[in-house]
Amino acid sequence: MPNRDYQNQRRDYSAPGLSKTQLNPSPFVQFTQWMEEAIASPIQDATAMSLATVDASGQPHNRIVLLKETTPNGFVFYTHYDSAKGHEVDQNQKAALLFFWPELERQIRIEGTLTKVSQETSKAYFESRPRDSQLAALSSNQSHEVASRAALENTFEHNAQKYTGQAIPHPKHWGGYCLQPNKFEFWQGRPNRLHDRFIYTPNENATLWAIQRLSP
Ligand SMILES: Cc1cc2nc3c(=O)[nH]c(=O)nc-3n(C[C@H](O)[C@H](O)[C@H](O)COP(=O)(O)O)c2cc1C
Repeated sequence: MPNRDYQNQRRDYSAPGLSKTQLNPSPFVQFTQWMEEAIASPIQDATAMSLATVDASGQPHNRIVLLKETTPNGFVFYTHYDSAKGHEVDQNQKAALLFFWPELERQIRIEGTLTKVSQETSKAYFESRPRDSQLAALSSNQSHEVASRAALENTFEHNAQKYTGQAIPHPKHWGGYCLQPNKFEFWQGRPNRLHDRFIYTPNENATLWAIQRLSP
């Protein structure tokens, strides 16, 4: 790795503060409020989130996926079940999500467990996607080595020809996961690095959430 100095890459945060009284008692409602503000702002890819999973050796892995739905159960994204992340989730259902919206000086951290959504839900979402996205899902063996770019494009073209005039079948290896959360953190940047941080953790019967302010 070349020597480089990034020590002067910094900025101060100036957004209005966040206090416990402003927070909604439900982290789901709080999340929805912040997400809707992010979507309404000029931020691109507001629904992009980092997904961290851990493999059987304890090694964490991180990548961006797109949030497609929130439900009373949690946060839904779609992927290939036979991908690296799919195999990690087979071994360990614990996972973490992270949203970072620099323009709003906000970060949301969410931890919980992943389960697959039903095949019917995955099929319905697959069928709602643009045809080229359906073909790409069918043509990609996600996270596995592919001989060349040309091989990938040939598979895509082969499938495009094969299914001309027909619906693209929903591949069984492609579908959704839902992360059911057991912890949230809402972070708002503030001047002088004295940022506001609040965590939500469920009480014993998980009907209410305790809110605590954390030191930045
Ligand atoms: C903005 C953005 C959005 C992405 N959305 C998804 C997604 O919704 N689902 C997905 O499987 N991969 C998505 N990817 C690709 C993943 O980051 C990753 O490369 C892929 O899922 C393979 O990860 P894995 O090998 O850890 O399983 C996205 C990447 C970016 C940069």
